Order: sequence, then C-alpha cells, then structure tokens
Amino acid sequence: MTDVLILGGTGWLSGRIARRWLDDGARVTCLARGERPAPDGAVLVRGDRDDTGAYDRLDRDWDEVVDVSSRAWHVRDAVAALGDRAAHWTYISSMSVYADADVHGADESAPLDPPAQDGDEYEYAAQKVAAEGFVHALDDRVHIIRPGLIVGPGDPSDRFGYWAAAFDRAGTEPVLVPSGDGRFVQVIDVDDLASFAANTELTGIRNAIGDPRPFDDVLAAFRTAAAHTGPTVVADDEWLEAHGVQPWMGEKSLPLWLPIEWSGFMTRSNAAFRAAGGTQTAVESIITRVLEDERARGLDRPRRAGLTRSEERELLEELAS
Ligand SMILES: NC(=O)c1ccc[n+]([C@@H]2O[C@H](COP(=O)([O-])OP(=O)(O)OC[C@H]3O[C@@H](n4cnc5c(N)ncnc54)[C@H](OP(=O)(O)O)[C@@H]3O)[C@@H](O)[C@H]2O)c1
Repeated sequence: MTDVLILGGTGWLSGRIARRWLDDGARVTCLARGERPAPDGAVLVRGDRDDTGAYDRLDRDWDEVVDVSSRAWHVRDAVAALGDRAAHWTYISSMSVYADADVHGADESAPLDPPAQDGDEYEYAAQKVAAEGFVHALDDRVHIIRPGLIVGPGDPSDRFGYWAAAFDRAGTEPVLVPSGDGRFVQVIDVDDLASFAANTELTGIRNAIGDPRPFDDVLAAFRTAAAHTGPTVVADDEWLEAHGVQPWMGEKSLPLWLPIEWSGFMTRSNAAFRAAGGTQTAVESIITRVLEDERARGLDRPRRAGLTRSEERELLEELAS
C-alpha cells in the first residue's frame, strides 16, 4: 500500500490531493494544525510547522510526501526532517514565481523572481521561489508543480465563481464586465490538478494549467450556464480603475480581469503538463459545477472577490449617467 504524507491535507487543494490518494487505495497521513478536518479515511497528525519538533511524530519512511506550504521556512524544515525518508516528493509551487507576466507562451525555463531571504517581509511569490530552492536538494526525487489559477467547487478565493454568481443573480438585469480585448483566461480544475499531483512517476518542474481561452468566450460560457438574458455592459480599464474597481481579486474587484501588460500570466505554456498526461476538464463543464456550488453556497453571501450586487448597480448607474 502506498504510504503518503500530506503536509497540509485539510485545505482546499491539499484536501483534494489527499482524497485522490485515498481513492487510489493509499494510506494517507495529513500534518496540519487541525483547524479543519482531514478527508475521511486519512489520519490527521496535529502539529504547527512554526514549532520546532513539528515533524517528530512522522518518523517512518514515506513513498510520497506532498507539501503545499507557501512559507519557505516550513519547506526548508520539512526537507531537513523528512527528505532522507521520502522516496518521492511533490511540491505545490505557483505560476506566480515567474518574474515576467508580459510574455505569451513562456515555459518553465522563464526567469523567476528573487527568492525570499530570512527576515524579508512576507511576499508570496518570493516565498514560493525560496521554497523551490529548498526542495531542489531532493534532486531527482522531486516534482515541482506550478499551478496557475485553480478553479472548481469550494474555491475559497471566490474568484472564478464570481462570474457564475454575477450572471445568475442578474437574471434579466445588466452585468458589468471589463473589456475582453487582448485578454485570455487560463485555469486548472482542482481535481485535474489533484490527479496530476498524485503521481510519483513525475519529477522535474511543470506548470499545471489548461489552454488559454479568449476572455469573452469564457464570460459567454458563464452567461449561457446561468441563462442570463440581460445585457452585458462593458467598462474600459481606465474607467474601472478611476472608480476604484480592483483587478483579479479582493473586495470591489472584477476577478479574472488583469492589466493588459499582465496577459502573459494567462497564456503560459502547458506543453510539459500535457506531455506528462495532465488532463483538462472543459471550461464549460467546470462552470456548470461552479454554478451549482455558487447556488448552494448562496449568491449573495459575503465574498472574498468580486462586486456586491449593490456595488455593481451603483457602478452601472454611474456608467450610464
Ligand atoms: N488558489 C490558487 O489559484 C493557487 C494558484 C497557484 C498555486 N496555489 C497553491 O495551491 C496550494 C493551495 O493548497 P490548499 O488549498 O490546501 O491551501 P490551504 O487551504 O492554505 O491549506 C494549507 C494546509 O496547510 C496547513 N497549514 C497551514 N499552516 C500550517 C502550520 N503552521 N502548521 C501546520 N500546518 C499548516 C493547513 O492546515 P491548518 O490550517 O489546519 O494548519 C492546510 O492543511 C498552495 O500551495 C497555493 O500556494 C494556489
């Protein structure tokens, strides 16, 4: 039986990876502080990776270790404590490690941001770059996966699902959208990613992402899924910026919308992912599942990303005046 240790396993992606291994018949152990449960069938070992001795109770050999941490010191300490006892290691990094976001089709050899140094203020991309540096010590036993935007039911970031909710809640009323000119959407389904990550045959570094799709096509797919019959009202970048609408994420934002000079972030190469057997659920099918999930979670719930309905109405009124 494959013996798998997930450093994490109680979060969204790491829980899906744990689930995937369990479905494959593996014995799964998760290390987490335990604020959320591990998937049924996994053993949860409680520990805080900020504490010394966090890995002491994991003192056996592992066929596979999976780490999702975005804190370089967690990754450094885990490699030091467990590296000699792991036959294979999967590190979930991010496509945010790349220094440039304006080059279309860039592959895994593109330049990276500088790694975080001890004492630096926390910065996600720099931590991921430094963490990758620590897992390189595992040489040909490590698979570094750099996902792009992860989407699917249960997404805690509320980004992709915003558009399902926005078109669904609007019905026959208008929906505010950014201009899709020159823009693309490139995503990876959480379960496609979990399957890709639950593979001990792969080593090296790979982006994990689907094919880029034109931005307007993806919004049209959301609109169709939600049976929205109202108009879509396009606001240009300058107008949105002038009215305090944030790109990409966070409060009062339009998710998936990125400054045009960032369009390389949504058009990265997935050739290595595809060549290694990475699967891509069709965006239309992801949207169907995400819409169901948005309805179940509540269209008007407080969100981490997007516009509230009242913010959207106010902006639409201003745009019309
Ligand atoms: N969302 C995206 O679009 C996107 C894109 C690219 C890459 N990624 C990467 O995808 C991964 C997402 O994984 P996820 O959804 O499982 O993340 P998550 O929800 O942040 O979960 C992190 C896991 O680590 C555990 N953990 C956190 N701090 C800990 C500590 N001090 N000690 C012990 N355990 C700790 C958490 O459990 P407890 O809280 O119970 O301790 C949880 O099990 C991350 O690597 C992220 O950088 C995400």
